[in-house]
Amino acid sequence: MAHPTLFITGGAGFIGSALIRLLIAESDWRIVNIDKLTYAGNLESLSSVANDPRYVFRQIDICDRPALDALFAEFQPTGVIHLAAESHVDRSIHGPGDFIQTNITGTFALLEAARGYWMSLDDTAKAGFRFHHVSTDEVYGSLGDTGLFTETTAYQPNSPYSASKAASDHLVRAWHHTYGFPVVTTNCSNNYGPCQFPEKLIPLMIHNAVSGKPLPIYGKGDNIRDWLYVDDHARALRLVFEQGKLGEVYNIGGHNEKTNLEVVDTLCALLDELKPRADGKPYRELKTYVADRPGHDKRYAIDATKIGAELAWTPQENFETGLRKTVQWYLDNTEWVAHVVSGEYRNWMDTNYGART
Ligand code: NAD
Ligand code: TYD
Repeated sequence: MAHPTLFITGGAGFIGSALIRLLIAESDWRIVNIDKLTYAGNLESLSSVANDPRYVFRQIDICDRPALDALFAEFQPTGVIHLAAESHVDRSIHGPGDFIQTNITGTFALLEAARGYWMSLDDTAKAGFRFHHVSTDEVYGSLGDTGLFTETTAYQPNSPYSASKAASDHLVRAWHHTYGFPVVTTNCSNNYGPCQFPEKLIPLMIHNAVSGKPLPIYGKGDNIRDWLYVDDHARALRLVFEQGKLGEVYNIGGHNEKTNLEVVDTLCALLDELKPRADGKPYRELKTYVADRPGHDKRYAIDATKIGAELAWTPQENFETGLRKTVQWYLDNTEWVAHVVSGEYRNWMDTNYGART
């Protein structure tokens, strides 16, 4: 029997590639990965599934409506999980344009292409279709010393990144309310794990440490993030996509609040154990305090009660096990990191699939 088809946007990114690896390994879905391959898209993260008959890759910009329409017509998917985005806060501060374009205009183009396709379906196919929008807890703004973000916390995005994600969340919500378009939305806390681009805190610190470079800590290092291992997020996404209630929002988080300083100190201790420096000095000596990020959100923390109670999701990793796995992965995959740092990953498709015309 033919496999049902699922579109995943942004599948060459950090979380998208983890989700695709999970779905190819553990589900029956045929996956069509729709990715523009920006600097953050890396097909090398998908080398383990690249030749699977249930995996298809299409290099497409989600802002390209005609290309999206053609893709829906060609593959007739049962659903979409939308992860494609510009995702790095610091980049959004230096150049917000791409964030507005991809996160807002791109989500709009994708919603309209998906809605046009959905309206063309017969009643049974229409009833089976769903659009899952993947978002962030950063849309809720910054917490003080107490409290947690719930699904009903008011939106108060502070960075160009979170504002663009908040806008896309609102579009998705409105498409459900106005057109009855079948959507679910998830808002997740900070992820970490294999294949994360080394611009984000954890892979950047690992990469700098093993390269003997300073570990730049913004401000005092007392900002708090709530960390979740990426495979736990991927499992949650699968659960919400397959079983979540239409029109609902689910917060996803691991109850792992840490200050940035705690994260960096734990990473340094793990590296001291797993890859001691040649001169015998501790990695923590590389810590350097640098100017704070403008508008730096103080604290994020997720209340994940709803997804636990309604869909029986719980994370499998705690911060200690997840971080150890992550450090070990970066130490074992120096080639992946070297290709990213050198820019060579951009040639991976040409080398492995033949040159593009
Ligand atoms: P990422 O930056 O690693 O990957 C983004 C992917 O989207 C890349 O493969 C990139 O090539 C692709 N992309 C970008 N613009 C595109 C466009 N116009 N058309 C098609 N593809 C495009 O991001 P990530 O960390 O994997 O995050 C994935 C999603 O999860 C994002 O929507 C992000 O907002 C959300 N999220 C991330 C985190 C986190 O901690 N990383 C936490 C919560 C939610
Ligand atoms: P980041 O990984 O960029 O995720 P986000 O800003 O989306 O939460 O940053 C995580 C935290 O680490 C954040 O408080 C900023 C801080 N940070 C540093 O202190 N130094 C760095 O070099 C980076 C990239 C981040």
